Amino acid sequence: MKYKLFGKTGLRVAEICLGAMTFGEEWGTGANKQDSKKIFDAYTKAGGNFIDTANRYTEGTSERFLSEFMGLDRDRFVIASKYSLYDRRDDINAAGNHRKNLVRSVEGTLKRLNTNYLDILWLHAWDGTTTPEEVMRGLDDVIRAGKVHYIAVSDTPAWVVATCNTLAELRGWSSFAGLQIEYSLIQRTPERDLIPMAKNFGMAIVPWSPLGAGILTGKYNNQLPQQSRLTEKSAKLNEKNLTIARKVSEIANKLGVTATQVALNWLRQQHTQVIPVVGARNIDQLNDSLGCVSFTLPADAMQELQQISAIELGFPHDFLASPGVQDVMFADFKGNLINHRKLS
Ligand SMILES: NC(=O)c1ccc[n+]([C@@H]2O[C@H](COP(=O)([O-])OP(=O)(O)OC[C@H]3O[C@@H](n4cnc5c(N)ncnc54)[C@H](OP(=O)(O)O)[C@@H]3O)[C@@H](O)[C@H]2O)c1
Repeated sequence: MKYKLFGKTGLRVAEICLGAMTFGEEWGTGANKQDSKKIFDAYTKAGGNFIDTANRYTEGTSERFLSEFMGLDRDRFVIASKYSLYDRRDDINAAGNHRKNLVRSVEGTLKRLNTNYLDILWLHAWDGTTTPEEVMRGLDDVIRAGKVHYIAVSDTPAWVVATCNTLAELRGWSSFAGLQIEYSLIQRTPERDLIPMAKNFGMAIVPWSPLGAGILTGKYNNQLPQQSRLTEKSAKLNEKNLTIARKVSEIANKLGVTATQVALNWLRQQHTQVIPVVGARNIDQLNDSLGCVSFTLPADAMQELQQISAIELGFPHDFLASPGVQDVMFADFKGNLINHRKLS
């Protein structure tokens, strides 16, 4: 395992983050305590130090298991948890990005994790109602109170993150150091605005669902999942995504690696700041994912994957890149074009 700096901070995190959403069986998709511990131990043994959880995951069990598994060694882990989603349903203020829920959620998380600080606090998802001022000032306060070291943001439009970070920089508050987004070979729409925005701010890019709910492992290439597991995956199990998954498996066979590893390395090779959050229900799945760190994909494989999973960037990106606009924007006196992408 190698380590990376988390965005523009000096915090050292493993190049693969362990997702702890599968710690606990409350949601029907996770592992029991014994198997969760095995996953945790295998990740730690491989050199992993970066673990992603949330106040909401498996109704608090994820954070409680983590606390037990870390024991007295808590300091050596970079623990990232999240706030915004409810952890009790009978209180209208037990959800959202506002200050009351922020303080309440962080206190609950610290109790469940049995620690007095969080390394990273993610705003889990944008509520569309709290102002950027309230959010960024509130987050800066929890940092100044010593309860959180760094802040980051998940599932939020690019223009909101840009507003929040610009505001924080101008006011001398802490800004978001990382961006967590759904990003994979079957979900490339963040390439339109979220990823360029994250690069612009020097943020860590942390893709969730890097295996597209397991589709990119190739296990559904020829047979659909059991009926009981179909609902959550059904929206993603379409012919377009299965065609991408089959290409991933074909490349994996050629290279003598697994489809899981190919899908993860396609992501990791998009940008040095990409740190995928891998989810596993058992130790074999985790070991499969961790195997990606020992090789890189050759250029021709990257090219094939890039092509089969391509999306339209849409307006204004396609318009700005069109020959007509490039001509009126960059043509020199001889009429030679300078591609705007090469200038950046
Ligand atoms: N910020 C957010 O909104 C957000 C949202 C979702 C997740 N997350 C984070 O991201 C992490 C990963 O998300 P995810 O679970 O959605 O990721 P994913 O990469 O889409 O799916 C992981 C799932 O794929 C299957 N799988 C993994 N490795 C496999 C292998 N080698 N062979 C066959 N199947 C395999 C397992 O599920 P089955 O065995 O059940 O198929 C596993 O739970 C979570 O733990 C959480 O920390 C964040």
